[in-house]
Amino acid sequence: MCERSMIFSIIYYVYNFVWIAIPIIYLITFKLYASNRKVYIKAVKYVLIWLVVLCIPKFIGWTFFPKTCYNCALNNVCLDKEDEKKEMDNTKTESTTKSVQTTTTTKSEIPNTTHNQPTNVIGKSSKGYDIIEVDGATYINGLLIVNKTYAVPSNYVPKNTKNPKPETYTNACQDCIDLEAYEEWTKMKADAASVGINLWIQSGYRPYVLQQKLYNNYVARDGKAEADRYSARPGYSEHQTGLCFDINNPSRSFNGTTEAKWINDNASRYGFILRYPKDKENETGYMYESWHVRYVGKELAETLYNNGDWITLESYLGITSEYTN
Ligand code: DAL
Ligand code: ZN
Repeated sequence: MCERSMIFSIIYYVYNFVWIAIPIIYLITFKLYASNRKVYIKAVKYVLIWLVVLCIPKFIGWTFFPKTCYNCALNNVCLDKEDEKKEMDNTKTESTTKSVQTTTTTKSEIPNTTHNQPTNVIGKSSKGYDIIEVDGATYINGLLIVNKTYAVPSNYVPKNTKNPKPETYTNACQDCIDLEAYEEWTKMKADAASVGINLWIQSGYRPYVLQQKLYNNYVARDGKAEADRYSARPGYSEHQTGLCFDINNPSRSFNGTTEAKWINDNASRYGFILRYPKDKENETGYMYESWHVRYVGKELAETLYNNGDWITLESYLGITSEYTN
């Protein structure tokens, strides 16, 4: 669901405009029209006072808010101080295991490719597919699967992404998307634009700590049972894989829009599926999301598109999507 704060963005832009642009305009005007040097020096003094006074809110922000807010500037919700500390602790303890993961999961995230890492078959799906575990992540038929039954470890980060450093993010990263998926997305976006449809990634990769923050907020707002219908618990979100993203406007008001219809009808041509189709909550575990697409490759995406009557990954692979508690 949407985590970007529009109000915050507006305040940020207005603030910077007032802080920087107005003094510059003021000085230029004085330079052009000041009757003498004295008047101009006075104007410079006013500008300096202006800059210093308006610095104060910035310093207050830097001091009292988590630095992640500033690192990501306008980009989505911030972690509070406690989360930030936890994240830093996690980063320290997890750094030892990350190197192992980096070497074991590569192209196996992309469907229909053979993966050559050590595997551990933990069972069979009801459709006869091997369920394979690699470093705590689950792969079925060459696909990394994340749903209410299959989680990824908290330190899981996507590999081979457009932005090469997803592990450095504690907030959302819109281009920490699997490279192949990103290339297809670029084509999809361009083709949509050519028919007047403007698409953008609103929420791409979301690290564990951000998902935790979002989920906890939703539980506080709507209660656990309701939140579980539209937000994944930390570790259970596909957003942690870099293989999916939310387009334009992740909210119910997006359903039925021209953009949503275009995505529904065309995404499969680029290898994306609508991961949570309409009326399939009993299979996916989640309410309809017209904005959330997942990359699975063209062949499978076309199969799952099924002429508009989407087949879910759960149904196709013969797996469940249910929390154990
Ligand atoms: N909205 C999807 C289910 C997520 O939170 O990952
Ligand atoms: Zn999503």
